[in-house]
Amino acid sequence: MHQAGASVPKPITQFENILVMEFIGERGEKAPLLKEVNLSIDEYHEIFKNLIEDVRKIYQVARLVHGDLSEYNVMIWKGRHYIIDVSQAVKVSHPNANEFLIRDLRNIRKFFTDIVGLEVPSLENLYNYVVGNANELEEI
Ligand SMILES: Nc1ncnc2c1ncn2[C@@H]1O[C@H](COP(=O)(O)OP(=O)(O)O)[C@@H](O)[C@H]1O
Ligand SMILES: [Mg+2]
Repeated sequence: MHQAGASVPKPITQFENILVMEFIGERGEKAPLLKEVNLSIDEYHEIFKNLIEDVRKIYQVARLVHGDLSEYNVMIWKGRHYIIDVSQAVKVSHPNANEFLIRDLRNIRKFFTDIVGLEVPSLENLYNYVVGNANELEEI
């Protein structure tokens, strides 16, 4: 995901099922989750757009689906989002990849509409944009 250009903690080293990665935060104090921050509507809007761009890169370039994407698995640090908790990610060739992608998009969409109060593109448009069936997001 990092190589695909998505905003994730930088991987440092890996041994068997252990991945050591960049710490998001400072002096041992972790950055807050998307769920925990209080941002302006414009900042939320920017984060929403950047998150969708990342889901698209993760799908089209890394050929992966996160599989547990929500406001609990996105950290916010210095105005930037970091997608975390990727151990359950699947390849786009996985038989359930489509279902997981739709669930990821639905979770993210629900947070930004119901909790933040943002107007966002339809689930269908988000899906088509991520998988490359649509070249742009609906303007909201
Ligand atoms: N790279 C990181 N830097 C700082 N804190 C992190 C990092 N990755 C995870 N965390 C913190 O640890 C918590 C748990 O990590 P996560 O990967 O979401 O595992 P799980 O949800 O399975 O327990 C996150 O909610 C976050 O607060
Ligand atoms: Mg988590």
